[in-house]
Amino acid sequence: MSKPVLILHGPNLNLLGTRQPEIYGSTTLAEVEAMCRRRAEKRGLTIAFHQSNSETEIVEWIQGGINGAAGIIINPAAFTHTSVAILDALNMVKAPIIELHISNPHKREGFRHHSYVTYAATALICGLGVNGYPIAVEAMADMLAAKPA
Ligand code: DQA
Repeated sequence: MSKPVLILHGPNLNLLGTRQPEIYGSTTLAEVEAMCRRRAEKRGLTIAFHQSNSETEIVEWIQGGINGAAGIIINPAAFTHTSVAILDALNMVKAPIIELHISNPHKREGFRHHSYVTYAATALICGLGVNGYPIAVEAMADMLAAKPA
């Protein structure tokens, strides 16, 4: 069986749909998962979709992806701006990594302009709202098709 694409979400994204809808919209995380699954199925990918408020858990999923994932799509949320531990874990991953943000952090407060994760990311998608997720799945499928494992 082919390896899954990990789709990882950091803190507070469990509350998508009700969390600051003026910034993040009103789509829930369960709806985002359904969008990703539909797109992945069309492109013949399997996905493993996770969210955690804990940095430890996210590091452990990434470690599992070192040999176990075809690629990683990650919205690290606030850990984007703080976590060397997540960067260090991503630096061990040879598979493509897409960093994704629902909002455009560069239009927001200065502390959101720096991302540790960008140092490890193959590509960055931001500012497209939750539509960025199926676009990321599509881009991941294209990258994997261009460069089979
Ligand atoms: C976010 C942007 C981050 O700055 C913020 O801390 C989040 C969500 C986004 O998806 O736009 O929690 O990653």
